[in-house]
Amino acid sequence: MSVDIKNLVQKYDTPLYVYDFDNIARRYEELKHAFEGKKSLVAYAVKSNSNLAVIRHLANMGAGADCVSIGEVKRALRAGVKKYRIIFSGVGKKDEEIREALQEDILLINLESEAEMKRVEMLAKELGVEARISIRVNPNVDPKTHPYISTGLHENKFGVSIDAAKRMYIYAKKSEHLNPIGIHFHIGSQLTELSPIEEACGIVADLVRSLQAINIDIKFFDIGGGLGVVYDDEVTIRTEAYAHAITQAIKGLDVTIVMEPGRYMVANSGIFLTKVLYEKKNGAKRFVIVDGAMNDLIRPSLYNAYHKIEAVQKTGETTPADVVGPVCESGDFLGKDIALPALEHNDILVVHSAGAYGFTMSSNYNTRGKVAEVAISNGNDYLIRQRENFDDQIRLEEVCDTGWQS
Ligand code: LLP
Repeated sequence: MSVDIKNLVQKYDTPLYVYDFDNIARRYEELKHAFEGKKSLVAYAVKSNSNLAVIRHLANMGAGADCVSIGEVKRALRAGVKKYRIIFSGVGKKDEEIREALQEDILLINLESEAEMKRVEMLAKELGVEARISIRVNPNVDPKTHPYISTGLHENKFGVSIDAAKRMYIYAKKSEHLNPIGIHFHIGSQLTELSPIEEACGIVADLVRSLQAINIDIKFFDIGGGLGVVYDDEVTIRTEAYAHAITQAIKGLDVTIVMEPGRYMVANSGIFLTKVLYEKKNGAKRFVIVDGAMNDLIRPSLYNAYHKIEAVQKTGETTPADVVGPVCESGDFLGKDIALPALEHNDILVVHSAGAYGFTMSSNYNTRGKVAEVAISNGNDYLIRQRENFDDQIRLEEVCDTGWQS
C-alpha cells in the first residue's frame, strides 16, 4: 500500500485501520477473471470486514454478499448489494431473521439442519411466499487448516451429512413453500491446499448429479469461502488453479458457481497502525507497549495468528520484542518475538494483513473505544468509520436505582 503513514496518523491518530480499496478491486477482478466464461457470483463474506464502504466498493463492481445474520443482510442492502445477490447462511437463525430475509426476497436462505428447514417452511407459509433455499452439506473433508477455522468435518457444527441433505432436498421439492435451488459447502478458512477443496467439490457435485436424476434441479453451486492469504511465508492457491479444479469437478452441470471469499478479498488490503507508548524489559524479555490491543485485533490472542509487524521509518539493529497492548490480560499481544529496532514514544508500528477479521472482531473490552477506519483509493484517503468516544460506548446503558445502599 503506497500511503504516507505518518500523514495518516497525524490526520486520524492511532490505533487505526487503513484499507487499500484499489487492492480490494484488484482481488475481486482477479477472481472474476479466473472464472471468465463461466456463470459465477462472488458473494463477498461480509463477516470478514463489514464496513459499509467496503461492501459498497465491492457491490459497485458487481459483488454479492454472503451474510450470517440479518444485520449483515441489512448492511449488504444498505451498501447497495442487489438483493438477488445476497445469501443468508448460519447455523442458528431466529424467526425474525428468517422472516425479514423472506420479506427482503434475497437470493437464497442457506439451511443448516432439518429443523431449520421446517421453521423456514412454516414462516414462508405464514407470509404466503416460497423460500428459495440452499442446503449446506458437510462433506466430511479435512481442510488442513487451524482447527478453530475448520468447518467441513462431521465433528464441526456446520451443515448436514450427504444423506440428510438428500432427504431434505426431497422434502423441500415437495413443499409448496420451499424451492431448493442451491447447494452449499464451506470446509474451512485460510486454506492453502487445493486438494481438500477439490475433494469436497467432487463429493458435492456427485450429490447434485444424483439429485438431478430425481428431478431436483440445482442452479447455484456454492463453494463457500476459504481461500488463504499470505501472512508470513504461506504458499497460497492460485486463482486459476482454483477455478480449474472447481470447473473440472462440476463438469456437465449447468450451475452458477457461487464463491464466498472474505479473507482473500480484504486481508492483505488492510493494515493496522498503532503507536508505541513505552518500551520495557522484564529481566531479559523486551516488551514494546503500544496503544493498539487485543480488543482491536484479536487474531494473535485468539488463534495465535501471525501478523507481520514493522516499524515505520526506523532503522538500526533489531532485537526480538513482544508487542503488547494496554489491556489487562497476559494474552493481550499483537506479536511475539518480533524483530524491532529501538523504539521511542510515538513511533508507529504497522501490523500487516489486518483487513480481514480485524475490525469486525473488535470489542469494547476494558472500555476501549472501537478504532477509526480509513479507506485509500486512487491516492485519496476517506474516513469510513469514526473513532468511538466514551459517550458512544455508554449510550445504551442505564443506571438503575435498586435501593441498595450501605
Ligand atoms: N462462507 C462461510 C460459510 C464461512 O463460514 C466463512 C468464514 C466464509 C465464507 C469466509 O471465509 P474466508 O474466505 O474469509 O476464509 N475469524 C477467523 C475466520 C473465521 C471464518 C469463519 N467463516 C479468523 O480470523 O481467521
